[in-house]
Order: sequence, then C-alpha cells, then structure tokens
Amino acid sequence: MNLDKLKTHAYVNGQWTSAASGKTFQVFNPATSEVIASVPDMDREDVRKAIDAADAAWHHYRDLTAKERAAIMRRWFNLMIEHKEQLAYIMTIESGKVMSESQGEVVYGASFIEWFAEEAKRTYGDVIPPHANDKRLVVIKQSIGVVAAITPWNFPLAMITRKVGPALAAGCPVVIKPPSETPLTALYISQLAEEAGFPAGVYNTITSSQSSETGKELCENPKVRKLSFTGSTSVGKILMSQCSSTLKKLSLELGGNAPFIVFDDADLDEAVKGALVSKYRHNGQTCVCVNRLLVQDKVYDEFVEKFTSAVQALKTGNVLATDVQVGPLINEKGLKKVQEHIDDAVAKGAHITTGGKKLEGLFFQPTVLSNATTEMIIAHEEVFGPVAPIFRFHTEQDAIQMANNTEYGLAAYFYSKDVSRCWRVAEALEYGMVGINEGLISTEVAPFGGIKESGFGREGSKYGMDYFMEMKYMCFGGIR
Ligand code: SIN
Repeated sequence: MNLDKLKTHAYVNGQWTSAASGKTFQVFNPATSEVIASVPDMDREDVRKAIDAADAAWHHYRDLTAKERAAIMRRWFNLMIEHKEQLAYIMTIESGKVMSESQGEVVYGASFIEWFAEEAKRTYGDVIPPHANDKRLVVIKQSIGVVAAITPWNFPLAMITRKVGPALAAGCPVVIKPPSETPLTALYISQLAEEAGFPAGVYNTITSSQSSETGKELCENPKVRKLSFTGSTSVGKILMSQCSSTLKKLSLELGGNAPFIVFDDADLDEAVKGALVSKYRHNGQTCVCVNRLLVQDKVYDEFVEKFTSAVQALKTGNVLATDVQVGPLINEKGLKKVQEHIDDAVAKGAHITTGGKKLEGLFFQPTVLSNATTEMIIAHEEVFGPVAPIFRFHTEQDAIQMANNTEYGLAAYFYSKDVSRCWRVAEALEYGMVGINEGLISTEVAPFGGIKESGFGREGSKYGMDYFMEMKYMCFGGIR
C-alpha cells in the first residue's frame, strides 16, 4: 500500500486546487514522526472562494430529487467500501489509529452515507387540520443552505461523513475543514466523492494549518447557514460566539468526562471487557472514551485485579499490524497531558497497577490507576489518552452523584444485572448517551450527542436530518 493515488491538493468547486498564496504544510505520521505529505495551507480568502462555490451550487443541488441525491451518495458509499483498505492505510499513517480500528472506522464512517442516502427520501412534512374551513395548512422541510463542517483528527473519516451525510441528503452543499493532523483521509474521500458524481461546488474540502483564521471565515460568512463542529468544549465556545454575528445554526459535539460505573451485582468479566474497549479505543482518544471508572466497594479489589490483567495483555506497537491494539498519541501535547494527569494522581495517592511510563516517540504504556479520588485532575478533565483511574463508591446514590459531578454530559456507561437499577440509573444519569452493560454505543442508526457543556444537536439516526433542514409553514387561504 502507498500514497501514489492520493491527490494532495484541496478540492474546491470540482477542481484540485493549491492555496492562492502557494503555501503548504506537512503532514506527519505520529507513529514514526516521518513527513508523509504536504498539502495546501489555505487562508481566509481561499475559504471564502470555497463558500462562494458552495453557495452557487446550492440552488441546482437542492432542486435535484431526493432520489437523485441518494443515488450519488449510494455510489460514494460503495466507493468507500471498495477502497476500504487504502482508506484504512491512509488513516492509520496520518492518525496513528491502529489498522484494525481504521478498517472499522471506514465501515462505520461509510455507514452514515448509506443511512442518509436512504433517509433523503423520507424528509416528510405535515398536513395540519386547519383552524378555519377556508384554509389549508402545510409544513414542508427545505435544505438549510451551505453547511460548514469542522472535524477532528481522532476520526478522520467518520466525523466528516456523520456531518456531511445528512447535509448532502438534505440538499446542502458542504465546505469541509479537516484538522491539520489528518487531512489526507479527507482528501481521499473527496476523490471518491468526485468519482461518485457530486456536481461541482457541492462537495468542497479545504486544507489549512490556520485553524482560527479559516474557522472565523466559516463562522462569520453569511453564506454559510449552518456550522457543525466536533472538538473541544473550549473551541466550541469560541465558534459559538463567532457564529452569533450571523445567528448561524450550530451543532456542537464537544468534550466529555465519561463515567463507567460497575455495581457489585455486575457481571465483572463483562464489565472488564466493556471498560477495556471503551477506555482504550483509539488509545483513549475519543470523546466517548471512559474517563473515570467508578467501582462499588465490594467488588473494587477484584475488578482492579481483573482489569489490570486485561490491560497488561493489550499489544502496543506497529500500528499497521492487524493484531496491535494500542498506537501512539497524536502529538507531544497529548503525551504531555497524559504524563501530567498521572503525576498529579500519583502525588495525590493513586497507585499505578500497570503502565505509567512513556515509551519511544509518542507511545505511552496503557495505564491503570487505583485509589483515584475526586481531588485529582483526572476526575475533572478529559485525559484523552490511555489512562484509566479507578474510583471507589459505596451506594447507588453516591455513584450517580459522582458520575453527574461534571460540567460534561456526553456518554456514560454502567454495568448491573438488576433490571430496576438499570432503569433507575439510566434515567438519573445526566448524559446524552448511556451504555447499559455495553461499552461501545456508536452506530449510524442512533442519535449521537451530548448535553450540558458537551454541546447540542444530534448526529446520525432518524433525528439527524432535521439539523440540516428548515421547517416552512404554508397557509393556503380562500379555499372554497
Ligand atoms: C468522537 O470521539 O467524537 C466520536 C466517537 C464515536 O463516534 O464513537
């Protein structure tokens, strides 16, 4: 596998384009620190041109029938599946995601295109019984207009498709700004989008290392009617304030601080499996990764022992090998945060039951901390790395209180065999998504999103299209 077929220009208005300034920036492989490609370093003016192209394409694109849009999307979905291995390879070398997970992400990411191609045909409106005999009341849904998608490096493909799937299905052209760490997967799926046959201007991908400048244009340009962002809560707040000048519609999928509660009536082996997959997926670098394990007194020691052994069995190393489960952190900043959280926890009394050490380059040993307490930074901040702190609790009420004691509200998980408790706890957790006896909850058919400072809006599922459509009420008078 190599990068021979990859186009390393941005894709704007159906053309492969350089930055007007001619500037480029380099893309690195986090597993080896090697430079793998250079791509255009676009500025605000380049972004404006992409928005103009998308706006010009809107009227024609929204007038295609849903079936015609769905057919293009279906071709795009098929192409992604056909190019699964190449896409997974590109994703792995630019993000450090291990190969088996990258292969999984291609299927997961493509599923949003398949799902929304089907949903395109079901954007029904309503006929409302009128308030007077000479009137007829109808509600229709129409595409919102140009959509900007600012996406993160941790899911180089799926976070794009989860946003542009419903947008394209609804008849909205898109301008995508992938992160500077992982633009190559985004460019490769742009090639496939071109091959699938989206009309010029409907699908645009701009590459840039100037995130604040390009982000500002996407937020402030009045031709952009909707911004969808996945990333940190702090950046989400900046984008939200920048979008206020045009009252732009927003979907924000932001940070989390996911609790994973193990009650003393849980199946411990299942809980260990669930915690392992939820914590160490992409090396702990997803917004829904477990950040805090809360374990009830009676089973605390047994759980720590079993979980520690499971973590010791994880294989770290060559990200291209299909049996390796743990890769590098994305960058030095991520690595530093992991070390800081561990140092702080240990200084405040945590015990390292396994791991705790930096390895070569950006690799870090998968780590488990017992005796974690709420004074530690890791109790409040998302570590975004391979560290699992285990806290102790006494009663169900304590667990709920500890779990909810955060400004975040994205995903929570718990394990229990008591059906009444399952309902009680699931309802009491202040989160947008709850895994009950399950550590992996993401799928295109369910609504993904958070509450509190984890953002708003839902992606995927039958609810996903509504965020890219405006509702119009029409009142027909004088009907005899
Ligand atoms: C994320 O980390 O933002 C997305 C995780 C997922 O889709 O499972």
